[in-house]
Parts: sequence; C-alpha cells; structure tokens
Amino acid sequence: MGNLKVAVGSDHGGFEYKESIIKFLQSKNIDCIDIGTYSKDSCDYPVIAKKLCEKILSGEADRGILICGTGIGMSIAANKIKGIRAALCHDTFSARATRAHNNSNVLCMGERVIGECLALDIVDMWLKTDFEGGRHQKRIDMLEA
Ligand code: RB5
Repeated sequence: MGNLKVAVGSDHGGFEYKESIIKFLQSKNIDCIDIGTYSKDSCDYPVIAKKLCEKILSGEADRGILICGTGIGMSIAANKIKGIRAALCHDTFSARATRAHNNSNVLCMGERVIGECLALDIVDMWLKTDFEGGRHQKRIDMLEA
C-alpha cells in the first residue's frame, strides 16, 4: 500500500470527506492527487469522475476514490469508462471483497450515507486488500471484453 498513488475526487456533496480522506492518506504517507472539487460550490459529478478515471487510465494514479452525496452518481459515471471497475461500498466487508474478487480500481462512497470514521475504515480496508487473481481474473477479462 506504501507505493500506491491514489487520486481522490468529489463533487460538492462529497467535499468534506474528500478533504478528510486526503488527510488520512497523507498521514499514512500514501501519495495522492486531489482531483477536486475545491469548494462546496455546486458542480457536476460526471466531470470529476471522468477526470479521475483518466488519471488511472494514463497510469498517473494506481487507484481512485470518488465521493458524492450518495456515491451512486460517481459509480455510474466511473463504470461507463472502459478499464474502470468502480465499487460503491458502504461497509468494510464489501470493500475487502471488491478488491479481492473484482480488482476494483475505483472506490465510491456517499458522504450523506455513512459516517466519516466508517468511510476512513473502508478506505483503509480497500487500499490494503490485494486482488486474489485465479478464478476471478477470468471474470475480469470477461468484463473487459
Ligand atoms: C448532489 O446534490 C448529489 O446529487 C450528488 O452528490 C450525488 O449524490 C449524485 O449521485
């Protein structure tokens, strides 16, 4: 988890958690890129999702975290982009399972859905869990095809 570069983005509905997540990553010496938004002014989540996913596809970031009010808009937007496997997680079990089984490269959460401490636990679990490969790789290949 030490060498990971993580892009973090939100719309206005996820702005507070984006800021907390960036502080959390910095406290663990994890490299991060702040994709924005940079204030609580209203903005459009598809724009942020696209910008973040492009960082992953270009190799500038290994993984990304997207926050909006529900996490749903961000996950819909991110999953439209080929090569992105975005997982909407509001519990640590799903966060672990989606890394182990789906090799998700984007984590989405809703600031209006869960508390901040749980959100940070989910980030921690999602970042430290490795993809298991094996039988799951075949299914990832099917998704990509
Ligand atoms: C913004 O009000 C809200 O719609 C957005 O943050 C997100 O929840 C969309 O899915």
